Amino acid sequence: GSPGAGKGTQAKRIAARYGIPQISTGDLLRENVQRSTELGVQARDVMARGELVSDSLVCDMVKDRLRQQDCERGFILDGFPRTPAQAGWLDAFLEHEFFDKSRAGKCRPIVILIDVDYNQLLLRLTGRRTCLANGHIYNVHFQPPREDEVCDLDGSKLVIRNDDREEVIRERLTAYEQQTRPVAEYYHHQGRLFAVNGSLPVDTVTDEVFREIESHVGTA
Ligand code: AP5
Repeated sequence: GSPGAGKGTQAKRIAARYGIPQISTGDLLRENVQRSTELGVQARDVMARGELVSDSLVCDMVKDRLRQQDCERGFILDGFPRTPAQAGWLDAFLEHEFFDKSRAGKCRPIVILIDVDYNQLLLRLTGRRTCLANGHIYNVHFQPPREDEVCDLDGSKLVIRNDDREEVIRERLTAYEQQTRPVAEYYHHQGRLFAVNGSLPVDTVTDEVFREIESHVGTA
């Protein structure tokens, strides 16, 4: 889904329901930027402009993460793959590292597209607040915290993400249209894409996502 479609919101719920890790490439990159790792230094300016980080840097980062033990039972990727090259890389990686060794069983990845219209996306991104301690997500228009600027769940401060400024948001939406839309085509042609209407309320979207996942597990 595009920036602001609700990937992080839904991915957290999927992770909690199935007891699998949420692997958000955006969160991993932001952690690297915060810690000023070599990857973080290379990614910082690209992310601040709202552009995509290079395929090779992101794929290497995902490879390291997927090799960790907590991924053996499965995982939810959030924000990845984001280019056709990343999608091709992921298919090859899973085929060799997972299916050969039967680590995640034979269930093929389920690909869910969360579809939301442009004006709704702008409101969501400008209204988003994220908790500093654990990344819980709120929205001043649609999912406000009980107390202004304070996380309901852990009491930490809520902040505005660095790339949620209007001029950067436009760049991110353009990058999505030009570089990530073709990923949906890639999976659609393989009959592996399931679209949900992300403009509906959060709980309704979650129900639809769970229904899609559960109707395909074991058959996908
Ligand atoms: P990333 O962190 O992935 O950001 P993004 O794709 O722009 O997506 P967002 O996190 O903004 O939105 P989301 O869909 O998760 O929505 P959320 O649930 O928060 O990437 C950031 C940057 O990292 C990229 O620009 C790029 O530079 C780099 N990067 C990351 N992955 C990369 C990759 N694979 N390759 C190359 N570069 C990469 O929800 C948004 C708001 O809406 C929240 O306030 C929420 O409360 C609200 N909301 C959610 N659902 C609903 C609903 N149903 N109704 C009403 N409000 C809702």
